[in-house]
Amino acid sequence: MSATKSTVSAIPLSTNKHLIRWVEKMADLTRPAAIHWVDGSQEENEALCAEMVESGTFIKLNQDLWPGCYYARSDPSDVARVEDRTFICSLSKESAGPTNNWVNPFEMRRTLKSLFKGCMRGRTMYVLAFSMGPIDSPMSQIGVELTDSPYVVVNMRIMARIGLPVLREIDKDVKRVVPCMHSVGAPLAPGQRDVPWPCNSEKYIVHFPETREIWSYGSGYGGNALLGKKCFALRIASNIARDEGWMAEHMLIVGVENPAGEKTYVAAAFPSACGKTNFAMMIPPPGFEGWKIWTVGDDIAWIKPDASGELRAINPEAGFFGVAPGTSPKTNPNAIATLSRNTIFTNVAMTPDRGVWWEGLTAEPPAECLDWQGNVWTPEIGRKTGKKAAHPNSRFTAPASQCPSIDPDWENPNGFPISAFIFGGRRAATIPLVYQAFNWSAGVYVGATMGSETTAAATGALGRVRRDPMAMLPFCGYHMGDYFRHWLTMQRSLSVTPRIFHVNWFRKDEAGNFIWPGFGQNMRVLKWIAERARSRSAAKETPIGWMPRYEDIDWNGLDFSREDFVTLQAFDHAAWRSEVIGHEELFIDLHDHLPPEMIYERELLICRL
Ligand code: GTP
Ligand code: SPV
Ligand code: MN
Repeated sequence: MSATKSTVSAIPLSTNKHLIRWVEKMADLTRPAAIHWVDGSQEENEALCAEMVESGTFIKLNQDLWPGCYYARSDPSDVARVEDRTFICSLSKESAGPTNNWVNPFEMRRTLKSLFKGCMRGRTMYVLAFSMGPIDSPMSQIGVELTDSPYVVVNMRIMARIGLPVLREIDKDVKRVVPCMHSVGAPLAPGQRDVPWPCNSEKYIVHFPETREIWSYGSGYGGNALLGKKCFALRIASNIARDEGWMAEHMLIVGVENPAGEKTYVAAAFPSACGKTNFAMMIPPPGFEGWKIWTVGDDIAWIKPDASGELRAINPEAGFFGVAPGTSPKTNPNAIATLSRNTIFTNVAMTPDRGVWWEGLTAEPPAECLDWQGNVWTPEIGRKTGKKAAHPNSRFTAPASQCPSIDPDWENPNGFPISAFIFGGRRAATIPLVYQAFNWSAGVYVGATMGSETTAAATGALGRVRRDPMAMLPFCGYHMGDYFRHWLTMQRSLSVTPRIFHVNWFRKDEAGNFIWPGFGQNMRVLKWIAERARSRSAAKETPIGWMPRYEDIDWNGLDFSREDFVTLQAFDHAAWRSEVIGHEELFIDLHDHLPPEMIYERELLICRL
């Protein structure tokens, strides 16, 4: 290992002087033992995976059962996004708003400089060029992540377009490149043995919105480390989108095709671990013969008005980083098919035949397996200790192209026309299965005031209802009040305004059971939504919006009683009045940036209640 500039050994795979100079400068700061320009090839990927098997980061799964699949266990302290360590360092605190952590950018730069100084010693720095969106799309954006984690490289290879084709774009020097610095924050002294999952107990996930920069330190997991995803495609992109008149949203994109062959595309925002992947890959249930579902994206949508004023959406990602627990051949067969090969599993359980398992995959757990921390786990140990075999936020990283329901045109550079937006949260009470907002501004209010129970996707308390506007609370890279205004303003550039809906698959009965069967059965709700968007299905007016009556939903193939439907759709005045108090609490926080429309909508709602 050398501590001099001569560590810049590998030949740059780009002719772009700015890029080369930046890489040199960052190597000078972080002092890696080697620099590796990632070309993105299959051979390179295999070599990296083999190195990680060697170092203990990866276990190669049984290739007869799981071809091309690898298994990783993270450090037990590094298992989810760290929202309290995520910072939006805009020049003014005001622009970040009260829902983001803010630190003065000059101070933060000083902190980062000292954290990153020598932080890659003994490791390889990978130069990972990536494109969010198909490279030929006018809506795509380019980033370069400098990372000392090979795990990040092989995951990003699935999640984004990477390597030589992106470097060729960068050579042209036309598109702005977003610099993304990432280190696990675990330098190695000469001769020091590495651990399977290096990370640091001190974590910083930092965004500089004005200069469009990302600096991430101390974590190797998910959205903390795969910087194209939440950091770029949502926090930085939301800033770019506001400036340029488009939208970067935490939304799945899905197409519904009716038996006549007519396709309707919708985009849906549900908070983390609240059902986007499942909804995007849904299989129409018995009774819906002739209907098809086409997956375009499962987590992020970039949405822009075209020349005719119609909103079109692309999925900026190329893979799925999906929640494993609960995923089964019954609940999500398309996900199971997608993850059957070329997939990286992180923090699930491993079976004795070097396969994978997680809670919900099969009705019967395996007699014995190793849990996500590598300890022996049996159903009995689980019962006694309450320990799960798989971490609740364990995930699979799988190529989108392997999804049986992937839209044949999913990489269309111009995206898909969006006819409806759906907002949804995880709510045990109060919120009905489905309703439609009266109009755009009422719909923006519905999205803005959305509430949801917290999940394992982020560290912190579980199951607490919090306001999560448009499922963007942890992802909006600027003031939430300005974000609402941006949503309202978008309507002006539209010739057709998508209809806006709210759903809740998670309402529970007195015994604590979900009332709605969910998953594929959500097709019945989606059909009603798609037809409402085409002004075809009927509804009744209620104080909160338009709701389907029992007879407005297609029940073909499902025995679901009118009584249960009434319970699901029940609208309780008292509960809604306290719901509105929750809206007010959010609005008080945002008051000085809150668009007046939000106040009017709240007043209208209160009057109707
Ligand atoms: P992120 O990747 O964190 O953004 O999550 P997501 O929104 O894609 O959520 P996902 O589809 O992975 O679902 C999260 C959890 O909710 C899984 O355990 C699912 O099995 C469960 N889930 C999804 N859809 C439904 C549903 O309709 N009903 C019920 N009861 N559970 C569901
Ligand atoms: C989420 O938490 O919404 C995710 C997982 O999609 S992560 O990439 O870790 O943010
Ligand atoms: Mn997500």
